[in-house]
Amino acid sequence: MLDHEKIHTFASKLEKKMATNRTFTMLKPDAIENGHMGKIIDMIISAGFQIKAMKYTQLTEDQAKKFYEVHAERPFYGELVEYMCSGPIVAAILEKENAVADFRTLIGATDPSEAADGTIRKAYAESKGRNAVHGSDSDENAESEGHFHFTAAEIF
Ligand code: RTP
Ligand code: MG
Repeated sequence: MLDHEKIHTFASKLEKKMATNRTFTMLKPDAIENGHMGKIIDMIISAGFQIKAMKYTQLTEDQAKKFYEVHAERPFYGELVEYMCSGPIVAAILEKENAVADFRTLIGATDPSEAADGTIRKAYAESKGRNAVHGSDSDENAESEGHFHFTAAEIF
């Protein structure tokens, strides 16, 4: 293999490795409203995730619509958009080996009544709709959701 080919292979492996090691999360309005922000961030760090970007912000209606566009045809879309821009959130990019899958395990099932003991949603979600935390469901979505909220300069 030529040198420049080796460099290219190394770079794409590195890119892949980085992608699979990162996920994106939001602490949703109910979590902030109910005073669970600190405890949830503590659970995330204690589970071995490193914070690569973080911001306390509020989504506009347009941003919430765009972020949840994949659910536009679902019956709960309107309610979801209204809820997601109803108050401040914390958005963050997290890093850990196997980040996407491990973070989904840490947050638990969408509906807190089905979430396992020890998960964030079991401890803090109010309901299936107001469920405290978002976690990306694939490496591709983690990447695009991260860039939806953060500029390159805001990501460590
Ligand atoms: P998320 O994307 O927020 O991490 O949640 P998820 O993967 O566990 O669930 P998903 O199916 O992607 O749904 C996105 C969010 O929509 C709200 N939802 N409400 N009332 C309902 O039946 C219902 N179903 C979903 C929740 O806030 C859910 O997290
Ligand atoms: Mg989802």
